[in-house]
Amino acid sequence: MKIPRFLIMMLLGIGIIASYAPAQNKYVGTKMCKACHNTEKMGKQYDVWSKTKHAGAYKTLATDKANEIAKAKGISKPAAEAPECLECHAKPVDPKFADRAYDAKDGVQCETCHGAGSAYKNMAIMKDKARSIAAGMTDFKDNAVIEKWCKTCHNEKSPTFKEFKFDEMWGKIKHPVPKS
Ligand code: HEC
Ligand code: HEC
Ligand code: HEC
Ligand code: HEC
Repeated sequence: MKIPRFLIMMLLGIGIIASYAPAQNKYVGTKMCKACHNTEKMGKQYDVWSKTKHAGAYKTLATDKANEIAKAKGISKPAAEAPECLECHAKPVDPKFADRAYDAKDGVQCETCHGAGSAYKNMAIMKDKARSIAAGMTDFKDNAVIEKWCKTCHNEKSPTFKEFKFDEMWGKIKHPVPKS
């Protein structure tokens, strides 16, 4: 039987895409990022983040207030176990990540926004933005892209949502590398 040429090309194509897909990347956890991203020269990203509400997003779910909100929505589980809440407060909830370094207790963490880091965390790759992106780091092109990303959680699906003012909110969490 003769296999059509286009089919072979298609299967090859799928193979190539699959082998590069960032989906295969593993989470390495905030401690790994901290190893390099907490010096004065680098801009202390870890310390900045740990003082933001993002770092406590999971702990918030363990409060009475959270459980009341969940109950009012007809959720029978405690908020800290409800996928309907974890979805934004501690991505990812997929149990297949449970044995990896992604710790839900770290709430909205580095890799929630920057992508799973196993393939881009090496010094040589990190120093090269294009290579980091090719290895799975999120490509935040400009503020419009960043704002769109924020709004995947900061929207009316959040039971406590009022409004999202990008400039003000970004000002509260940004963590730049100081220009030398
Ligand atoms: C081995 C050290 C090392 C580790 C571990 C590391 N980084 Fe980096 N990272 C760097 C260096 C060096 C740079 C380049 C900083 C500069 O701009 O001078 C960088 C740059 C970055 C940038 C900016 C890229 C750009 O140019 O816009 C991001 C975002 C980033 N790292 C996120 C992370 C995250 C998230 C983790 C954990 C998953 C992590 N890094 C782990 C060393 C590291
Ligand atoms: C994965 C979901 C998610 C994404 C993406 C996200 N956030 Fe949040 N953010 C949260 C959650 C959940 C809280 C509430 C944490 C708490 O209070 O426990 C929060 C809280 C905050 C707060 C504190 C609230 C306040 O009024 O001071 C700021 C500021 C903030 N986010 C800014 C941003 C910005 C800017 C972006 C985009 C760069 C962003 N967030 C992206 C989930 C997210
Ligand atoms: C679509 C994303 C999203 C979902 C789903 C979500 N949250 Fe949140 N949550 C947020 C964001 C963003 C904030 C901070 C800003 C705000 O209030 O919108 C927040 C803030 C909170 C706060 C702190 C508010 C305050 O004023 O102290 C509590 C408590 C909370 N969420 C509980 C829950 C519970 C319980 C659930 C599940 C029933 C849930 N959230 C589901 C995104 C979400
Ligand atoms: C809520 C989402 C969010 C979280 C959580 C987060 N970041 Fe970022 N980070 C961003 C965005 C958006 C930018 C801006 C992208 C850019 O400058 O291209 C950024 C920029 C950076 C930069 C580059 C700064 C520069 O000046 O080039 C570094 C380094 C970085 N983050 C590291 C981290 C580390 C390490 C953590 C955890 C300790 C972390 N981030 C947590 C969203 C996040």
